[in-house]
Amino acid sequence: MIYTEKDKKFKRYTVTSALPYANGPVHIGHLAGVYVPADIYVRYLRAQGEEVMFIGGSDEHGVPITIKARKEGCTPQDIVDRYHKVIKESFAELGISFDIYSRTSSKEHHETAAAYFKKLYDEGKFIEKTSMQYYDEEAGQFLADRYITGTCPHCGNDHAYGDQCEACGTSLNATDLINPKSALSGAKPVLKETKHWFLPLDKDEPWLRQWILESHKEDWKTNVYGQCKSWIDAGLQPRAVTRDLDWGVKVPLEDADGKVLYVWFDAPIGYISFTKQLKGDDWEKWWKEQDTKLVHFIGKDNIVFHCIIFPSMLHADGSYILPDNVPANEFLNLENDKISTSRNWAVWLHEYLREFPGKQDVLRYTLCSNAPETKDNDFTWKDFQIKNNSELVAILGNFVNRTLVLTHKFFEGKTPRRGELSDLDRQTIAEIATYPERVGRSIETYRFREALAEMMNLARLGNKYLTETEPWKLYKSDPERTGTVLNIALQICANLAVLCAPFLPFTADKMYAMMNLRAMGWQDAGNADLLMEGQTLEKPELLFEQIDDATIEAQVNKLLETKRQNELNAWQPAEVKENVTIDDFSRMDIRVATVLECCKVPKADKLLQFKLDDGTGTPRTIVSGIAKYYTDPAALVGKQVCFIANFPPRKLKGVESQGMILSAEDKDGRLVLITPSQPVTNGVNVG
Ligand code: 2FM
Ligand code: ZN
Repeated sequence: MIYTEKDKKFKRYTVTSALPYANGPVHIGHLAGVYVPADIYVRYLRAQGEEVMFIGGSDEHGVPITIKARKEGCTPQDIVDRYHKVIKESFAELGISFDIYSRTSSKEHHETAAAYFKKLYDEGKFIEKTSMQYYDEEAGQFLADRYITGTCPHCGNDHAYGDQCEACGTSLNATDLINPKSALSGAKPVLKETKHWFLPLDKDEPWLRQWILESHKEDWKTNVYGQCKSWIDAGLQPRAVTRDLDWGVKVPLEDADGKVLYVWFDAPIGYISFTKQLKGDDWEKWWKEQDTKLVHFIGKDNIVFHCIIFPSMLHADGSYILPDNVPANEFLNLENDKISTSRNWAVWLHEYLREFPGKQDVLRYTLCSNAPETKDNDFTWKDFQIKNNSELVAILGNFVNRTLVLTHKFFEGKTPRRGELSDLDRQTIAEIATYPERVGRSIETYRFREALAEMMNLARLGNKYLTETEPWKLYKSDPERTGTVLNIALQICANLAVLCAPFLPFTADKMYAMMNLRAMGWQDAGNADLLMEGQTLEKPELLFEQIDDATIEAQVNKLLETKRQNELNAWQPAEVKENVTIDDFSRMDIRVATVLECCKVPKADKLLQFKLDDGTGTPRTIVSGIAKYYTDPAALVGKQVCFIANFPPRKLKGVESQGMILSAEDKDGRLVLITPSQPVTNGVNVG
């Protein structure tokens, strides 16, 4: 039973999840924002016995793909082939239960998207417009979308793209950018005339306003509603749906050579073409019948495309339903920093699966319990460890394990008989009955964190029940009562298996297997008769294991190393200082000397003590802070170095240093001694 649908009972559910660009693997930000909640939702609906179709696939067109291919010196097809495979496999391993995971480079998709465009074109739904667009004369190419960068006119971000500023989320036209620059050659682009087809969004404003701002005021999330409202209030503009590019779905018109559909026109049509691939002739009811509920799971940067542009495309066709909801999430950060593919600041799913085998549910749990549902949120490895050790192990795992172990110990692994009930038993049984609705309602209203917390409350109820009844002590004096207690605890375990399945499908499978139960539906939960008296249980295995500090430290160190690499990559030479005169320079007395002796200064980690032949006949002592970089000081003997001779002497750790040895500081902070390229006479000047 679906709890929230009062008057409109839907017959089927079309659930889509944003098609990730196949230009890199997916990371925890994608998962928490889109795929984990979408998967929980569809698993729940299936458990409710609803007819559901869950669509996923790769977005294989657009500039993100061609830019990556250019960077790697291969074809766009090579890129999408590589990442489609990685993404598809890692989603499957995490248990994201798509009914189809297809790709927009498929023939069927090209045909469907081209036909969609052609129908709207034939019906006169587009405006054809010739306008001036940026063109890179060096590269001989128009600069669509991410091929052009510049300063965002709204927030001043210097790395805004021609279609969007990722810093403030504003959707842009390339001509809005301040100081535009070609991402291909770095050149300043010129404006050149070109023809394109536009969707007249301005004409859609009245019905969009009514549909979103009036009909969905109550049921759409505030973040989604708010973004839509500011778009509509700002006044919608016609939007180009074609591009001058050679990678994408060809515009199916005679006079459109070198033009493809805009990636944001073809990608959402992917949801439809993948439905056709999956359902064949039966596809239309999933998109065209009013008793189908269409739900798009997306991240917040996709809101305008799914709430305004795609609906306007569907409306222009006229035969499609519109989304009932678009439960977009905000962004997930990682260790207090924005997740970034270019800076490799991410936890990549395929790496997680390799490094944490068998721990899919731990990641699903952490990402759901910390999902950025109403505001941006942060993933930290420490929190991941706490969620595992203090919640999954200590609450859910512990309860199930204690119950099964005690049943094996006292009742040979068979569900004991339930005898006379105490008040506490009756109360507990009554409480079990409330959980399916508590969890279900929250899922149906896209409050997945709350739903997960409710499910865990049932495990907490189980632990509390065991603590209050103490079956481990009771057996000696009252085996029959112990049987009743364990029977009820086992019924809680069976209920937990049903209710945790949308969130933790691997754990649910283990629980069913341990209890010798077949997977049950949502309507089975809520009662205390899921396990028959005498039913044999398998030997319990631990559902979750502790994650130790060393494992977490290794992950944190991996990120620290990434940060270090990023800093090195971002290194730039310092700004040139103010001009000096020849007199300023000649006041510095820089000379060459040969190292006679070199050793560490006792009790000083950083210091080396040099004895130098500076040509005067009297050896000169200089102390230098380079010990960390020259761990074999004796090896420096015989080398020539440069030093400042007229530095006032000073005492360092009790040694008088008579000058300063010159070294270069590399970008990682390493100090390297400066030596002449050929031997010279000791004492000569450097200038
Ligand atoms: O933002 C993205 O990663 C896009 N590839 C999402 C596309 S969703 C849909 F429209 F296909
Ligand atoms: Zn901006």
